[in-house]
Amino acid sequence: MKIFTRKSEVKEFLSIQKKSKNSIGFVPTMGALHQGHLSLIKRANKKNDITVVSIFVNPTQFDNKEDLDKYPKTYRNDVALLESVNCDVLFFPSVEEIYAENITSEKFDFDGLEHQMEGKFRDGHFNGVGTIVKTLFEIIEPDTAYFGKKDFQQLQIVKKLVEKYKLLVKIKGRPIFREEDGLAMSSRNARLTKEHREAAPFIYKTLKKARKKFGIKNAKELTEWVEKQFEEHPFLELEYFTIADEKTLQTITEVGANKKYRAFIAVFAGDIRLIDNIRLKNN
Ligand code: PAF
Repeated sequence: MKIFTRKSEVKEFLSIQKKSKNSIGFVPTMGALHQGHLSLIKRANKKNDITVVSIFVNPTQFDNKEDLDKYPKTYRNDVALLESVNCDVLFFPSVEEIYAENITSEKFDFDGLEHQMEGKFRDGHFNGVGTIVKTLFEIIEPDTAYFGKKDFQQLQIVKKLVEKYKLLVKIKGRPIFREEDGLAMSSRNARLTKEHREAAPFIYKTLKKARKKFGIKNAKELTEWVEKQFEEHPFLELEYFTIADEKTLQTITEVGANKKYRAFIAVFAGDIRLIDNIRLKNN
């Protein structure tokens, strides 16, 4: 695996690949890699000639300094994992390499997608995500980029970014990877205490129960039901639960024909914030 820390060097290497008509698959990450990331990389390997992974803990998408400082950094293990799945290129830039002196975000208009759910609770988060994803796409110029559906809102926002800026990259959303007990894989899981780790599968269990009740209870009743489940929970604190249209991400009150819905949730397990979502079936 080739490792580059400079934009100019990775660009030069990839321009040679492009001249040889090699297709480039890209998986942007913030490191602390887990099976979910590896599944994206395997998919990129299968569908492209060259797979590029970036590891960059992007400061502008964190609304909380402590969360940024404590974000797990496991570089040696990440490199070993990347080699185990035959990743071709790792781009591992410093903050200065990406932002120079100016660590700020561009301001984006994602047609309102950025104001829903995570956007309500994480100030400026999607401007930070938009800034780094656009910058990385400009450096790597991938043919296809892969994102996990755990961050479903991020996935829709990246698609919107590509549409608005007419970027020449295909965006593929891939299924959520879960631990055996159902907890959605996330780099943040490593920071859970034993107690919170044991409690966390309750999130997905509740989502699955909510999916069963969808169509029997209306959206408001279902939201109240989920809120009640968490009120009674000793270790987990619900930040939000909402049922939203997959395309607009707007919270729904009524179920319409030919629409796709998802339930979205954010929960605090101690000071670790976990998110998850589930596709709902219209009954
Ligand atoms: O999902 C993530 O890990 C990050 O938000 C991303 C897409 C790598 C941008 O920093």
